[in-house]
Amino acid sequence: MTRSIGIDSIALAVPEGFLDLRDLAAARNVDPAKYTEGLAVDEMAVAARHEDTVALAARAAQRALVRGDVDRARIGLCVVGTETAVDHSKPVAAWLHRLLELPDACRTFETKHACFGGTAGVLAAVDWIASGSARGRAALVVCSDIARYPLGSAGEPTQGAGAVALVIREDPRLVALEPGVTGSFSRDVDDIWRPLWSRDALVDGHVSVTCYLDALAGAHASWREACRELSVKDEPVARRCYHVPYGKMARKAHAKLCALEGIHDVDGTFAREVASSLRLPRRVGNVYTGSLWLSLASMLETDASDVEGRRISLFSYGSGCTSELFCGRVVQGAARHVASLAISEPLAHRRRLTFAEYENIRRADGDIDATADASGGAAGALAFLGVERGRRVYG
Ligand code: HMG
Repeated sequence: MTRSIGIDSIALAVPEGFLDLRDLAAARNVDPAKYTEGLAVDEMAVAARHEDTVALAARAAQRALVRGDVDRARIGLCVVGTETAVDHSKPVAAWLHRLLELPDACRTFETKHACFGGTAGVLAAVDWIASGSARGRAALVVCSDIARYPLGSAGEPTQGAGAVALVIREDPRLVALEPGVTGSFSRDVDDIWRPLWSRDALVDGHVSVTCYLDALAGAHASWREACRELSVKDEPVARRCYHVPYGKMARKAHAKLCALEGIHDVDGTFAREVASSLRLPRRVGNVYTGSLWLSLASMLETDASDVEGRRISLFSYGSGCTSELFCGRVVQGAARHVASLAISEPLAHRRRLTFAEYENIRRADGDIDATADASGGAAGALAFLGVERGRRVYG
């Protein structure tokens, strides 16, 4: 009998500071409703110096293992999806492997395709298990990013930072995915990119919205084709999670999907099927690779008991671009497991930054990777401490 494969544990890590977008609007002389209604975002996470991509990834992963009661000796694959890595050669997964004390017999690597990088890791993990290579072991997939656009640019209110860690294994306790039944769409476009010389992403913002929606249409057609070829039953979908660079984008995506599926009630289906997935993204901003998975975490924390046993759809988009649409089923008993994961608890310990603090953090991060000072770590937390003899130090 084929066993199910999917998401067994999920956890977040967010920076300690956030900026209220009303404070950003006041400083930039913009109507706050443009951000809170026009983009549908209230707060954006701002990473301090000691909370780099590795530190955030390690915190999320530690939480997914501990809260999920996962045996780390049985992790055989550790993948980190990121587009804001800290080294051109050494993958974030290498530091994670040590910080989390994972077994030596573990495959580690990093994946990149803009925001799709995390999903690439999840799908690779599912295939690793389905192929038999896992031999009963589980995979740890961590999506970790710090989204930066130039200060004062149109992209600035769509920044964010954070990590989402997922444990993927057989007989998962949260969501069983549908291995092999995915629809892909890729095309070489310049919507958002980050040249090697720049810490900030460069954006053709309105083009990026069109690229996202075109990719959704392409992935949907490809997914329908896969369903036909594999004779997958056309079952209704109870919840839909999208890549969420900002909440309004998910609203646009849902309207597009409704048009493709011949659904007339866009507002009603949005309220029932999508709104719960936007609760956490609204408070964190764009976490790039983790964005789809933050949206799933948000939906599970809000709605798991209503959707146990029901089908959900997931759409991942990465600029450049590539995308994938696929489905899963929330497993029976997931709600109880979700409660023990306390998914949004890390958000309870954040501090609202002043606009001046935010700008100081952003202006100081230009030479952050070259500083030798190893004094910035928060006591007891997994943190980036600085650079010694050219090597990054974590504690
Ligand atoms: P903009 O040009 O400043 O904003 O940039 P706008 O004029 O398009 O307004 C935005 C919305 O606010 C509009 O609503 C306005 O009507 C509304 P819409 O027409 O879209 O429904 N609005 C107001 N609402 C209420 N009260 C008001 C008000 N004023 C205006 N007073 C843009 C917006 C998203 C382009 C910009 O923020 C940006 O460039 N962001 C970064 C790019 C981005 O997030 N793209 C998303 C798709 S690509 C993607 O998802 C990939 C990504 O995650 C990266 C990766 O893969 O690596 C980004």
